Amino acid sequence: MQKEAILDLLNEMTIEEKIGQLVQLSGVFYLDDSEITGPLASYELTNENKYSVGSIIGVTTAENALKIQTEYLEQSRLRIPLLFMADIIHGVNTIYPVPIAMACSFNPKLIKEMATFSGVEAANTGVHVTFSPMADLARDARWGRNMETNGEDPYLNKILAENYVKGYQGSSLSPNSNLISCVKHFAGYGLVESGREYNYVDVSERVLHEFHYPAYQEAIKAGARMVMSSFNTINSIPVTVNQKIIKGDLRSNLNFKGVVISDWSAITEAIHHKLATDSKDCARLACEATIDIDMMSMAYQDNLVELVKSGEICEQQINQMVLRILHLKNDYGLFENPFKNLKGVKKHAVKSPDIIENTKKVAAESAILLKNNDSVLPLKTKFAIYGKFTETTDYFGPWSWQGDLKIVKSIKAVFSNNNDVIHVPYQGMNFDLQDFDSVETVVLFIGENAHESGEAKSKTNINLSKEEEEIIKTLKSSGKKVIAVIFSGRPLAITNVVQYLDAIIYAWFLGTSTAIVLHDIITGKINPSAKLAMSLPRTVGQCPIYYNNYATGRPKAAAIDSYVSKYIDCSNQPLYSFGHGLTYSNMKIKKVEITKSTYNLGEDIELRVWIQNPSEYAGMEVIQVYVNDLVASVIRPNKELKAFEKVYLNAGETKAFIINISAKELGYINENLEFSTDLGEFKIMVGLNSEELLINKIKVGD
Ligand code: BGC
Repeated sequence: MQKEAILDLLNEMTIEEKIGQLVQLSGVFYLDDSEITGPLASYELTNENKYSVGSIIGVTTAENALKIQTEYLEQSRLRIPLLFMADIIHGVNTIYPVPIAMACSFNPKLIKEMATFSGVEAANTGVHVTFSPMADLARDARWGRNMETNGEDPYLNKILAENYVKGYQGSSLSPNSNLISCVKHFAGYGLVESGREYNYVDVSERVLHEFHYPAYQEAIKAGARMVMSSFNTINSIPVTVNQKIIKGDLRSNLNFKGVVISDWSAITEAIHHKLATDSKDCARLACEATIDIDMMSMAYQDNLVELVKSGEICEQQINQMVLRILHLKNDYGLFENPFKNLKGVKKHAVKSPDIIENTKKVAAESAILLKNNDSVLPLKTKFAIYGKFTETTDYFGPWSWQGDLKIVKSIKAVFSNNNDVIHVPYQGMNFDLQDFDSVETVVLFIGENAHESGEAKSKTNINLSKEEEEIIKTLKSSGKKVIAVIFSGRPLAITNVVQYLDAIIYAWFLGTSTAIVLHDIITGKINPSAKLAMSLPRTVGQCPIYYNNYATGRPKAAAIDSYVSKYIDCSNQPLYSFGHGLTYSNMKIKKVEITKSTYNLGEDIELRVWIQNPSEYAGMEVIQVYVNDLVASVIRPNKELKAFEKVYLNAGETKAFIINISAKELGYINENLEFSTDLGEFKIMVGLNSEELLINKIKVGD
């Protein structure tokens, strides 16, 4: 439809029809066999309400979407097609690893490919908009939603957020795009105090701009046409009704021109925050903050018409909101084809051999080899498997409610095809040591269950269960080699058992292909290559903890060891830091060459990094480049990631890789909230993790 035709359509709309576009309802209201429960049961909807809304949430079959769209178009006067939105966080029917696991691949191309496959599958199940990527920076292991994030580093987060969007939408939104990407949750949701879900957030404006905004911004630059506002407060005002954050920072500073949707029922939460007395007040505040779509609070549905008629909200503002939504529908091709992807659904696109193969590729790069004493892995001799995760197929993790369990094989089933494996049925601590007599090595599949992470799953105890800790210790003291494969949606504190484990694979939740990929890693068919995107704390008391912390006035390295910034009962360092992850190749950086010692701001710093693979295993490594500004106008992290590259080396190969960083990019957001780069000395640190680094110094001059 031409742009002028959209304006004509707007002019034809009644105020009720305009407000309808700003309302999002759950699909359950439209499907005869849906049972409406909980707070939804109290909504009183007329047919007029139902057939005037602009979008639907949570429908994930093409049949249901087709039925709803058809009925809707028959009933609505102007026949403006509905948008169907859902949380396609790591797949719909075919499930990928949870996002934090995929972030550990440090492989942007892989993320883009995954989002393309996942977008094709989702589009063929009737979804138009996915509430992904989640670009919230996460640094507190207590928070349940770590599993949905790209972890603790702003640079990795922004590169991955960009690739999610490009994978879902293509290079820009068009009728050929699979999905529309809605980046969330703007902003700072990962900062909830004490890691407690939906809690208060306090953050300085500078830190927000420097560390939290870039990933949302990159997603927007990559073309994300929707943004979801976050539940949390900033400056003591909930973001959903926060004009400075949404209208100011998001729309003016980050130049976002698209549609902003509230989080689920967040608009009326202003009543609980005690900023509004009733839903009318809430609707006015959210509208003034320029939230375009009300996701399931009914505040817009119930009050906006009246607010416009009384003059408290001007119709011009409503027109702007409606236009943003109409343009989105138009650019996605819905006016021409309201049944896009719904008629003649390409069945082969759902759970196709290609997407299943792709989940294997992604899972193979997502599981992290944290420890491998004496190269105990990969296993070449007989071993036993034990643990609660061997007999289930519950490997999807949260946000996988449409995942198809029928295409998943249990660990027991996959490993039983290997004659070198014995499976000991799981009985917690009540096992008989004799069951393990025939093997030297036991692989344990342990950790958090899927329901222990995700939304509203904050925790104060992030250890393994006492029982699993006991199992490890008992097997180790019986003389076995013990290998743990740990499932989890958050970084766990495994300090109590790390010394008893010969090897550790941190699996997170790997999705549909979990069992086969873990089998192939354990037996050496797959050479692991993932790196931690979030540090594992030693204890919950260290949270929040992240590698890119600041120098204090009393750094721990100072000569006097008391009255410095430290704990008296624990190291300052995490147990395993961001960027850590082993391979079977034991690759080393042999040298780093930097062509010049002084660069001006317009130049690229060229690093030539020589890597040696001394092993018989071909494999991948992640070259990580960290910098530290030696004299700056605001405090700087001790090290911050500025570039990374996933590289492949054949067995026995030594090779040089070139990495360029523009000198200007060594800058930061200064106290005036402007990006600036200091002239002077910088440390450039290169490694295969964030701790063992080869250090060079360079100067940035005029
Ligand atoms: C979550 C969002 C999600 C939305 C819709 C909310 O509770 O915070 O991340 O997209 O529900 O399901």
